[in-house]
Amino acid sequence: MVEKNLDFRSDTVTWPSPEMREASYKAVLGDDVYGDDPTVNELESIAAEILGKEAALFVTSGTQGNAAAILAHTNRGDEIILEERSHIYLNEVGGIAVLGSLMARTLKGEMGWLKPDDIRGAIRVENIHRPTTTLLCIENTHNTSGGIPLTVEQMKADWDVAKEHGLNVHLDGARVFNAAVALGVDVKEISQYADSVQLCLSKGLAAPIGSMVMGSEDFIKRARKYRKMLGGGMRQAGIIAAPGIIALTKMVDRLADDHANAKLLEEGLRKINGIEILHPVRTNMVYIDIGGLGWNGDDWGEACKKLGWKSRGSGTTLRLCTHYGIEREDIEAFIEGITAAVPKV
Ligand SMILES: Cc1ncc(COP(=O)(O)O)c(C=O)c1O
Repeated sequence: MVEKNLDFRSDTVTWPSPEMREASYKAVLGDDVYGDDPTVNELESIAAEILGKEAALFVTSGTQGNAAAILAHTNRGDEIILEERSHIYLNEVGGIAVLGSLMARTLKGEMGWLKPDDIRGAIRVENIHRPTTTLLCIENTHNTSGGIPLTVEQMKADWDVAKEHGLNVHLDGARVFNAAVALGVDVKEISQYADSVQLCLSKGLAAPIGSMVMGSEDFIKRARKYRKMLGGGMRQAGIIAAPGIIALTKMVDRLADDHANAKLLEEGLRKINGIEILHPVRTNMVYIDIGGLGWNGDDWGEACKKLGWKSRGSGTTLRLCTHYGIEREDIEAFIEGITAAVPKV
């Protein structure tokens, strides 16, 4: 029985399944800083295998995983290329500058995808005056473009340019399984075009805490040291790694339900005059603008609260996420309720 969680704010709000809670309780523990927590070690080897990389590292969050990965790829003063609305650039507290002393070269993507020619044009040619471009960061799915999955062909095209110029590629794959499920491909098809991948266990996969970073043995060794520097050396971490194992092995296929529910939500909202759908809905996110209702995010939040839901946004733009804990009938009831609640325009 899935515990209801009527909260559209994010897929980070998911609660662990009963099986995850039980797995935490029963987890065999050690000390992960000494490398002898068997549950963490098992999670890391499962993640490496699934993503097709040599090794993996369990980290506290997506932000910590991206930071450790970027530090492991770069030297102070390097330049890295990012999409201008990527999570790493917008929402990770400027960690690349503070922690890495890195220059950020941002490019406007086409629905989150960086065009190969734009990347090529942004890579610095070696010259005594210039910083060295060492890393390309990609985000898949691309959150602010509506949770759009970048295709395998798009990933390959960016990878090819990066490799022509000796750059490493880091994939912020917080929701890379949403991308794989939406595209109908094995996740390895996506991850093969990245030297390192960060993926979140605590979003649609419903684990309570944690992310994974995958890459080569050498890379993970460096990232592990940076994780320690960032305060992420955890001890009896098996207690939180155990739900992560269930997330990776049992929670991926059900993401298709979240995508179907997002589509249903989109179809319902599209019928309401005054609501505009901002991006194509391909995974578990529906971005809307409610300005046409004469409402702002607070009005919307209040109306949702009366219907038993949490939902919020900035100004008139809102992101609604579907996830574990929201079923088809909940979306149907929400559409009915919100249709009745909004002003008729
Ligand atoms: C694309 C993307 N990358 C990274 C993160 C960071 O994850 P965390 O919140 O676990 O730090 C998020 C969080 O929402 C995200 O959407």
